[in-house]
Amino acid sequence: MAELLRMRGIVKEFPGVRALDGVDLEVRAGEVHCLLGQNGAGKSTLIKILAGVHRPDQGEIVFQGEPISPANPHQALRLGFATIYQELDLVDGLSVAENIFLGHEHARFGFTRRGHAARAATEVLSKLGHPEIRPTTEVGRLPAAAKQVVSMARALSHDARLIVMDEPSAALAHDEVANLFRIIGELTEQGVAVVYISHRLEEIREIGDRVTVLKDGRTVAVGLPADTPTGELVSLMTGRTMEYVFPPRGAGPPGEEVLRVEDLTGPGVSFSVRAGEIVGLAGLVGSGRSEILQAVYGARRPHGRVHFEGRPLRRSGPQHAVRLGMGLAPEERKSQALLLDQSVTANITLGSLPEFARFGWLDRARERAEADRLTDALGIRPADPERPIKTLSGGNQQKAVLARWLLGSRKLLLLDEPTRGVDVGARAELYAVIRQLADQGIGVLLVSSEVPEVLGLADRVLVIREGELIHEGAATDLDEHAVLDMIMEGSARA
Ligand SMILES: Nc1ncnc2c1ncn2[C@@H]1O[C@H](COP(=O)(O)OP(=O)(O)OP(=O)(O)O)[C@@H](O)[C@H]1O
Ligand SMILES: [Mg+2]
Repeated sequence: MAELLRMRGIVKEFPGVRALDGVDLEVRAGEVHCLLGQNGAGKSTLIKILAGVHRPDQGEIVFQGEPISPANPHQALRLGFATIYQELDLVDGLSVAENIFLGHEHARFGFTRRGHAARAATEVLSKLGHPEIRPTTEVGRLPAAAKQVVSMARALSHDARLIVMDEPSAALAHDEVANLFRIIGELTEQGVAVVYISHRLEEIREIGDRVTVLKDGRTVAVGLPADTPTGELVSLMTGRTMEYVFPPRGAGPPGEEVLRVEDLTGPGVSFSVRAGEIVGLAGLVGSGRSEILQAVYGARRPHGRVHFEGRPLRRSGPQHAVRLGMGLAPEERKSQALLLDQSVTANITLGSLPEFARFGWLDRARERAEADRLTDALGIRPADPERPIKTLSGGNQQKAVLARWLLGSRKLLLLDEPTRGVDVGARAELYAVIRQLADQGIGVLLVSSEVPEVLGLADRVLVIREGELIHEGAATDLDEHAVLDMIMEGSARA
């Protein structure tokens, strides 16, 4: 395969941070080139240089044998680079079609007629398996997953030679990821190169051809084969050899029942969570796990009954739930407003202000101390709580939003996909924090699509399939295959 792109010695500094410190990348036509690295390693910064969003301080970019320097996103598109960004960059007030063809060359000629644009938009969206997304819908009204599809449609509509995808799967459901992989296959067959960023190593195995690993703004491995053993990749990324480290389970028996539900989202969905216990919900995306969390929290109407601390919950609704001591960290954290210009501390303490204002004023010192403790415990980088959150990498922003929910004195935590977007190294830290909270007597109900995570972290596992609770048991009595069999086939293995 011919070399399409070469980036060499790329340096990029932001005030106080050397984000890239001499990075090399080399991409061939028709390959899927994966970019791996911990949160903050410099992946998004590197691809933003290619996309003309940032100018490099040093280094060279050679594309099809010619030196280039994309000065702005428009130029990058003209050169043949399309990018699907980690943080969505659609214009909420414009329609789907307008977003897709925003900045298109041919939009200026002949293409301005609405009918054409709508037809062309429908064509790309159908190709992506989403003919139901209407070109005239205002983008702001779409759910997060649909926005991701529109963003992808926009990248595909440019006939690019190289498409960069920065964690595209983080907002997609299981079957949509399969669809994305099919499209990637079609693109590469036509000779298009795909640069693919993901923290899910199994995805890299599935579609990757080669892998480049970044660590602290430097390239530590260029163009390794995608079947390089996981342990090797992880140690290149982190300097450690362990992939997942789960904290030891609680020693004593769990405490009182914090939560008991009966027929919660449907007949038979009945279970309890005790103080000090982590209960994991395993199941496919769309199997009803998130609905269970939302029904407990009152964000959706429960079908059956909810008992909290031994008493039936008469009123429902998130505000009431928060007052009782529940916290829900929802799956779509990206769509939760981050106060972009404000500090990490301000963003972490946003959810629990009443806690710090108990005596009528804000206890800034305590707020700061708590935020510091979580910044430290979750390994948020850079470890400067006063820094504006917009200058953090995507995964570190993610950790900060999650920290919001770990702060304060809650009795029941509902965590939906807490490790999404978080790198393999930082996961261990997050697991430790969740276990510590349980050890302090909090009940935790956890949803995760990663079965090893549910099995490693939870005390008890509930398996959900098509809205039904089909298995309940101790995590130590199950293995990954047994759980996968149940969530796929619905059969418990003897
Ligand atoms: N606009 C900015 N201003 C200041 N610092 C920035 C800015 N953008 C990124 N950084 C810093 O540059 C470093 C690299 O960030 P980058 O977003 O490239 O990481 P990443 O590898 O994409 O991580 P993640 O997996 O979390 O998305 C981080 O230390 C980050 O805080
Ligand atoms: Mg990133």
